[in-house]
Amino acid sequence: MNRRTWTACIGAFALAGAVTAHISSLEAQGTADPQRVVDAAYAKFKDLREGKNADYIPALAKVDPNLFGIALVTTDGKVYTAGDIKTEVSIQSISKVFTMAQVIQEQGLDAIEKRIGVDATGARFNSIIAVEGVKTVVGTGAPEMNPLVNPGAISATSMVTGSTADQVWSKIIGFHNDAAGRQLSVLQDVYKSESDTNQRNQAIGALMLAYGYIKANWQQAVDLYTRQCSIGVNAKDLATMAATLAAAGTNPVTNKQVLDAAKVPGVLAVMATAGLYDDSGKWLYRTGLPAKSGVGGGIIAVSPGKFGIAVVSPPLDDAGNSVRAQRAIADISNALGGNPLAARAKE
Ligand code: DON
Repeated sequence: MNRRTWTACIGAFALAGAVTAHISSLEAQGTADPQRVVDAAYAKFKDLREGKNADYIPALAKVDPNLFGIALVTTDGKVYTAGDIKTEVSIQSISKVFTMAQVIQEQGLDAIEKRIGVDATGARFNSIIAVEGVKTVVGTGAPEMNPLVNPGAISATSMVTGSTADQVWSKIIGFHNDAAGRQLSVLQDVYKSESDTNQRNQAIGALMLAYGYIKANWQQAVDLYTRQCSIGVNAKDLATMAATLAAAGTNPVTNKQVLDAAKVPGVLAVMATAGLYDDSGKWLYRTGLPAKSGVGGGIIAVSPGKFGIAVVSPPLDDAGNSVRAQRAIADISNALGGNPLAARAKE
């Protein structure tokens, strides 16, 4: 995606957010009953058996593929759920959104754009070819990468400030806790399993140091990145995190401001551009929603000014995105008028 398209994308979301921000609840907008819509999607997709658990991280292959939970949290803090919203899965790449947001919160929107970039790579999430591609533009001020693919995410984690690994970690987990509205913890079996098998991410970390994206201690960055990917979350946690972005950076359940409102559109723009990797365009075409998937089986999506939604269901498609989560979120959002690119016709 070139710079002009990106700018247009940001403008569209900022405008959509402004148009809808004054609406306080879905019901007030005269849409279908959210609970019925959520229940209908659960019933429709409950028996869908497409896709396969990720297995390149051995612990993920052991997660129950039948796990299926849906949660929707509105910007005025109402919660609608169906299925299993208690069982935790590892957050995986969805954490990339919140670590990026934390760096943006601390250091501003420019810091991420200049160091990592905010462009789709057009490659898989852990592509090393993409790293080789961007190194040619290091120092030109326009890296063609983003913080939602592994090289950009490991670099973003390295940008979180702190004089010890523990200090950096407590900021990372603290930001996730604030967005979820509760104390989260690391799923130790997933952390160990990924740490034992993440040689590819270690190679990416070393390359990012060599090419100047990571300034020092790539091993610490890879370890903290692996830890953040192993945070345990359920569908309700994820929906609350998405709703925090939908509600201009304030968690609508706890009312705590997590991210400055002015910084939210930049975060959503990167999600829209690269949140579902190679399939981000298809997803945006169908739903208009900034979203982010994780190989643990979660997907979050954000309807600015309206709601955050999340589905947990481990079986993934070839692009690494949960099959049931994509279908359920698209159905629910479209039934509730969630597409931020669709203006209402004049009455
Ligand atoms: O680094 C990895 O490969 C995983 N911790 C995260 C990958 C991921 O979730 C990609 N998402 N769809």
